[in-house]
Parts: sequence; structure tokens; C-alpha cells
Amino acid sequence: MKSNDLLDQRVICERLSSAVAGAVDSVEVLDVVDSTSEFLRRGAPPPPGRMKIALAEYQTGGRGRLGRRWLSPFGGGLCMSAGWSFPVAPPNLPALSLACGVAVHRALATLSPAGLGLKWPNDIVAGGAKLGGLLIDVQGESDGPIAAVVGIGINVEPVGDLAERFDNADSLPPTGLRSLVGDRDVSRNELAADVVNSLFAVLREFESSGFAPFADEWRRCDAMCGEPIRLRIGDRTRDGVALGIDDDGALLFGDTDGTRSVISGEVTLRRASADS
Ligand code: BTN
Repeated sequence: MKSNDLLDQRVICERLSSAVAGAVDSVEVLDVVDSTSEFLRRGAPPPPGRMKIALAEYQTGGRGRLGRRWLSPFGGGLCMSAGWSFPVAPPNLPALSLACGVAVHRALATLSPAGLGLKWPNDIVAGGAKLGGLLIDVQGESDGPIAAVVGIGINVEPVGDLAERFDNADSLPPTGLRSLVGDRDVSRNELAADVVNSLFAVLREFESSGFAPFADEWRRCDAMCGEPIRLRIGDRTRDGVALGIDDDGALLFGDTDGTRSVISGEVTLRRASADS
């Protein structure tokens, strides 16, 4: 880590667009916290149209998908969460994580990391390895307000021994942003602000229009389309091929039985798995 690269609330806020700066209720930069998402969930959700942000240098209980841990060394990644409230449930709420993935992809794309892409449902990948991931928590009723916390983890430092501690043996190996951008400088503060700017625009649009405006962009970022995959739903697995996503953000899974839409489950690239 560069010594001047600790997270700094002032630097982050200075880079927010004026529209976003005017809509952000709080930007909390924490040294250590259990989880930035839990931190926001303990507080009141922001009013509709407003945003709350929390970032941490280190999480003692970082959460990943499917009950896994999210590991990131002190100052070695971007661990951030954004709180947002929808006045009523938006169309395709389950696809919110895919739309937010588009937001993170847009922010990262300005740094041109080699092989940047998205893997259904919410992994940020680069060159066959995992650069980051999203975890969305939603609370509320279908006919009432919905409070969402969008958790985003991005590996910034080359991951080194983290790879050995990675507690997700079935999934992709981790990679770090700094090892993917050549000589380019990576500022975690600038990246954090770029993600917030991008996320704000996506949440506003998702609120009114759901996933439809993002489906084609997600498809262009799809790193898995056409690849042989293993789908795990509960304790059942099926081998097949990833055929992209449908307009609701469900995975299109093809096998000898035909093509079907999958709304939840875990996908492993078979060429990357140990037993393929
Ligand atoms: C995954 O790929 O499994 C999702 C990882 C999400 C990690 C982020 S880090 C910031 C936020 N706080 C958490 O505890 N988790 C998310």
C-alpha cells in the first residue's frame, strides 16, 4: 500500500459530482468496523433520493455471498457500503445487484484493468480471477418502502497470501486492481468517489425503470457467456453452459434438457474448477 493512500473523507467528497454531493447525507470513513454494511444497517436508512456511505480500512466481520466471509487486509482494498431507500419496490428488485455491478464496472473501467468483466450474479472479475463482489441487503415490504444496503468489496493490492486464506475453494482465485493496470496510479479515494458517483446514477435509474436500462450493458460486460459452467442450487449441481441473462437479470443456463432461467444459485466456471 502507498503510505499516502489511506481513505480520506475530504478527498472522497471533493471528487463527488455536485449532484451526488448534494444528495449524500453522510460519508463515514472508519479505520476498523465489523462490516460497513452492518454499520449502515444499524443506523436509520436515508430518506428516498438520499444516500449514506460507509467505508473502512479493515472489516473484522466482512460478509460475502452465501454466508461466506469477505477478507481484505488493512488498507488493501475498497470495502464500502451505500444505503439507499426506494419509496416503493422498484421493478425487478432481485436484479438490483446486477445493476449495481454495472455501476462498479463503469467506475473501474476508467482504469482499464486487463480483462475486466462481470460474472453472474454479482462478481467483478478480471482475467479469470475475482477482483471484487457485491452483496445487497434489502428490507421492507413489496408495497412499501424498501431500504437497501449495497456492499461492495474490491481487491486493490495484489492479493498474495490472501489467496491462501481465501475461504471459497469452489470459486475464482482472487486478484488485485494494482496488478492489472500496468503503470497507472490507483487512488483508493478516487476509486471510492467514482464508485459513489456511478452508483448514485444507477440507483436513481433503477428506482424508476428497474433493470431494463442496464440489461444490454450487463451483457456486454458478461465474462461468462458461452462458458461451460457448473450450477449449484442448494445441494444439487448441474453441468451446462452459460448463455447470458434474460431481461430480468436471470441467468440463462443451457444443458441437455434445454435452456432455463435461473434466479438464484452459485455458478462455477468448469474450466477453472479443480475437478473439470
Ligand atoms: C461476494 O463476492 O461474496 C460479495 C462481497 C461483498 C463484500 C463487501 S465489503 C463491504 C461490504 N461489507 C461487507 O461485510 N460485505 C460487503
